[in-house]
Parts: sequence; structure tokens; C-alpha cells
Amino acid sequence: EKGGYPTFMDKEIAEQPTALADTLRGHFDGTAVILDEQRLGDDELRTIDKVFVVACGSAYHSGLVAKYAIEHWTRLPVEVELASEFRYRDPVLDRDTLVVAVSQSGETADTLEAVRHARRQGAKVLAVCNTNGSQIPRESDAVLYTHAGPEIGVASTKAFLAQVAANYLVGLALAQARGTKYSDEVAREFEALCAMSAAVEETLTLMEPVRELGRELANSRAVLFLGRHVGYPVALEGALKLKELAYMHAEGFAAGELKHGPIALIEQGLPVVVVTPSPKSQPVLHSKLLSNIREVQARGARTIVIAEEGDDTVAPFADTLIELPRVPSLLQPLVATVPLQVLAAEIARAKGFDIDKPRNLAKSVTVE
Ligand code: BG6
Repeated sequence: EKGGYPTFMDKEIAEQPTALADTLRGHFDGTAVILDEQRLGDDELRTIDKVFVVACGSAYHSGLVAKYAIEHWTRLPVEVELASEFRYRDPVLDRDTLVVAVSQSGETADTLEAVRHARRQGAKVLAVCNTNGSQIPRESDAVLYTHAGPEIGVASTKAFLAQVAANYLVGLALAQARGTKYSDEVAREFEALCAMSAAVEETLTLMEPVRELGRELANSRAVLFLGRHVGYPVALEGALKLKELAYMHAEGFAAGELKHGPIALIEQGLPVVVVTPSPKSQPVLHSKLLSNIREVQARGARTIVIAEEGDDTVAPFADTLIELPRVPSLLQPLVATVPLQVLAAEIARAKGFDIDKPRNLAKSVTVE
């Protein structure tokens, strides 16, 4: 049932183009974004004035990624919070608050309790979920299903990419309801999202250098990940994958924070993975990342640079260069996450670990 792949994770990484296409299919009818279940009036969506995304693990990272697009498209403030933190503080919630609960399983205890807490406070809850009929969508006011199919590997891959895409759809639905985007603009953004399936397919063909790198890094003690803007949550997700699968100390940092602490960690040979934005569409951020790459390389780090194809400026400072197809800036996480998944799986394989069932982890955590 692994379809010829050595592990479920390898199969699920390869299924990501399909997971994206299936998640998006049928959710835009030419004029409006369509949710799967909507027990909320359009007028209720229109008056939303604040959005929270609550989730755990990779699902939380999917919210961190989508925050940039949702705020940009809707002009609504978006807070992304770990469900386990959200439910034990006193978040400011009212009937005009939308809480987006993201969960692959739909059964994660902390996320479910966050949903219940939000509803008791009168907030509206929209579930982004991969499991039909699970508890979180049952208790929500609206549902958007990710159609990633069953995910067997404990560390999330295709469900994560599908969550990012679904969160973007939520952003487009809100933008349209609020009138910050007209349907022709929504149509263009939806098209761009749909085109990401082919971009991920292309990315998968560029993974040979990543596999080689994975074998080389198997004996490293630690790996750092740096990114900015949407590349920052990608760095966090890359570090999480490495902890989960390779039991290696891994940390993701916002690259702008480098000189406020993390740079003290740099020592000879330390692998540092840098998620670099497009030099063409994000020239200012790109030049800042380029300085970071040079700073860590000058201090002896082994630089692993994930960059857009044809980015000649970073190449001289990359000990390993991993190229990505050119895509719209806000959508780059959908391609940039892929090499980080492959890297973690490859290091785990080289170390002889169980890729589908990492030690101490469960696919769905239904207890606190
Ligand atoms: C963790 C899983 O325990 O739960 C992660 O190992 C997952 O892969 C997280 O991202 C959240 O799970 P869910 O089902 O709520 O998305």
C-alpha cells in the first residue's frame, strides 16, 4: 500500500501536488469561494473584525504561513496561536471574532478545547480539517476540508501543504465577504494557488541534491534554519521535521533576529539552512537574507541555501544550493517546505530511524 515507495512519508511527499489540487478543486465557482459546510450567514462573515488561527504542531505552522496572505488580502488582524496556550489564557473573543481551528485529524485535544472555549465566548469557529466527520468540524460553525487523503506518516507533509492552501482559501473567502477583493481578483489568486500543484511537482524533480545533502548531514549535532516573512514559518516547520524524524537538535529563527542572539551559536561546520525570498519580487528582503548568509558563512557555518532558480547573487555564498521554481512570494512556502521535508526524511533514513513512526510521537494526540 506504499505504492512502491520505501515509506509512507516518501509516498505522501510525492502525493503533495495531488493533495493541493484536490483541496482546491470545486472551491471557487467563478464568482465566489465555497466552503464545505457553512452554518454561518454571509452577513456574519462580513462583520468579522479579528481572526485567530489555533492549532498544534505543523498545523500551527500552516497558520503562521497563512497569516501574511490573510492579513494582506483582508486587512483583518490575524493572530496565530498554539491551541494549548490559547485555551489557558483569556483571549479577547466576541461574536465578531473568527477562530480558524486547523487540524489534520480533527481530534487533537488541545485544538478541540480551544474550539469549545471560543464558542462559549460567542466567537465563530471555522474548522480546516482533513478528516471527515471528526470532532472539531462537528463542533464548528463552518468547515473547509483539506483533501490530502489519509496521512499515515506521523510527521505531517501533504496534510501541511493542504492546510496552507485551505487557510489561503479562508483568506480569500473573508476578503470577498468583506469587499477587500472583488471576484476577479479572487479568481486570479485562486488560479495562482491552483498553479502551485504543478510548481510542487516541479520542485519534487529537483530533490536529488537534497537527498545527497541528507546523507552528508547525518552526523551533524544540530542544524539551524533561517527565514524571513513567509520564509520564517517555513524555517520553523523545517526544524520541527528534523526534530521529529532525525531526533536532531534543530531550531528555526527569524533571520532578522540572528544578531540578537542566535549568531552566537555559529561554529565551524554548523549547517545553516536559509530560506531565501525571490530577488525579483522581494529585493529588499532578499538583500537582507544575502547578508545573513554571508555573516554565517564568514563565521564558519556550512550554508545550505534554498533559493529561486536563477538567483545568481546567492550562489557564491551557498555551500549547497537548492533551487525552487519561481512562484508568487506569498505562495513560496508551498514549494520551499518540500526540500525541508525531504532533508529530514533523508537524514532519518541515513541514521536508520523509523521514518513513519518516530519514537515518542503519536499521529493524533487526543489527551492533553
Ligand atoms: C502532532 C503530530 O502530534 O499533532 C503532528 O505529530 C501534527 O504531525 C500535530 O501536526 C497536530 O495534529 P492535527 O491532527 O491536529 O493536525
